[in-house]
Amino acid sequence: MPLGIENILVTGGAGFIGSYIVDLLIEKGYNVIIIDNLEPQVHGNEQTLPDYLNPAAKFRKKDVRVQEDLAEAIAEVDAIFHQAAAVGVGQSMYQVSKYTHSNTLGTANLLDVLVNKEHNIKKLIVASSMSIYGEGRYICEDCGSVSPDLRSTEQMKKKEWELRCPKCNKLVKPAPTDEEKPLNPTSIYAMSKRHQEEMCLLIGKTYGIPTIALRYFNVYGPRQALSNPYTGVVAIFSSRILNGNQPIVYEDGNMKRDFIHVKEIARANLLALTSNNADYRAYNIGTGTYVTIKDLAKLILEIYNSNISPVISDKFRIGDVRHCYADISLAKKYLEFTPKIKLTEGLRSLLQWVSGLDKGQIVDKFDTADEELKKKGLTV
Ligand SMILES: NC(=O)c1ccc[n+]([C@@H]2O[C@H](COP(=O)([O-])OP(=O)(O)OC[C@H]3O[C@@H](n4cnc5c(N)ncnc54)[C@H](O)[C@@H]3O)[C@@H](O)[C@H]2O)c1
Ligand SMILES: [Zn+2]
Repeated sequence: MPLGIENILVTGGAGFIGSYIVDLLIEKGYNVIIIDNLEPQVHGNEQTLPDYLNPAAKFRKKDVRVQEDLAEAIAEVDAIFHQAAAVGVGQSMYQVSKYTHSNTLGTANLLDVLVNKEHNIKKLIVASSMSIYGEGRYICEDCGSVSPDLRSTEQMKKKEWELRCPKCNKLVKPAPTDEEKPLNPTSIYAMSKRHQEEMCLLIGKTYGIPTIALRYFNVYGPRQALSNPYTGVVAIFSSRILNGNQPIVYEDGNMKRDFIHVKEIARANLLALTSNNADYRAYNIGTGTYVTIKDLAKLILEIYNSNISPVISDKFRIGDVRHCYADISLAKKYLEFTPKIKLTEGLRSLLQWVSGLDKGQIVDKFDTADEELKKKGLTV
């Protein structure tokens, strides 16, 4: 336990990732306060407390959009894990104001309290996201390391899925994405995550409040909201399969992503809390390896023992990234973070959890969400 840190606030602590951070903190002997508004899209229209919520934490149904709610809790703690956010990438493109309010302005509220009220905060850790990179890092045979922009809609309509070099137009190969890769958020969600990260680091540095941003890659695991079609692909594929439907894979399925188990994310957060020499920086938190979306679909089907096959749709979503997986050297060096859970092992833990749920918790709403994107012209 770092000196002087005993009481901790976790915003969004009733959510998927936040709840694992809460569990780990309690296991390590910290006192935890949770602020969460129990967003209906995540927690259902009844907004009931999730049954996984740790009873040793003090839960408060409060909203980060209300500054007084935050001020009250911040006055009682020594450190903050800021996880509360609206988290749908596609949805953020037609709920611009809601995403900006919860994410950007919610964080502004938190920082206003830190700057204008007396407090004891010795560490602020903010959840950022790989989505702020846009496309990942690529290597051109002739030009070396490059950062191409998103593919154009015309290119994607021709089903030319791979990226070209921005300098010489040759096809390029994906490489691990490091923190120096220029940021290029391609959704309102990603933009708001960039804001959250940069605002926290800036205020932290300016006022000497030790601050760390963790750029999570694709997180999966038990407690993921399986009926929320706007979030992660592992949850979406799972609810498709468990409802007897084929998982729909966009493009040709060869997109590379870095899937990291939620327990690793919680561990990285704890390492950030106890680190001595890691402040005022942003770190990639992934596994440093990749899997293609097509192989992921196959792996999930295998683990669920299903004889369904995935649909390789050849359709695409405007703004989608082709490849992005993490270079985690910085997190290894400064946080001593080494991921341990292998994808198959992690997916098995998800299956085990899923098999204990009732049907009502696994509603497949993919078609409605897909239809919504189509209506807005966001899928082709
Ligand atoms: N899941 C991923 O793959 C992933 C990847 C990168 C970053 N992140 C970030 O991690 C954090 C946690 O995400 P998650 O996957 O656990 O999502 P989640 O939806 O399960 O958790 C978010 C929690 O925040 C709460 N919340 C939303 N708006 C709020 C508000 N205005 N006031 C108070 N609480 C509010 C929700 O009720 C929910 O419990 C988010 O900041 C997200 O951007 C997640
Ligand atoms: Zn080139």
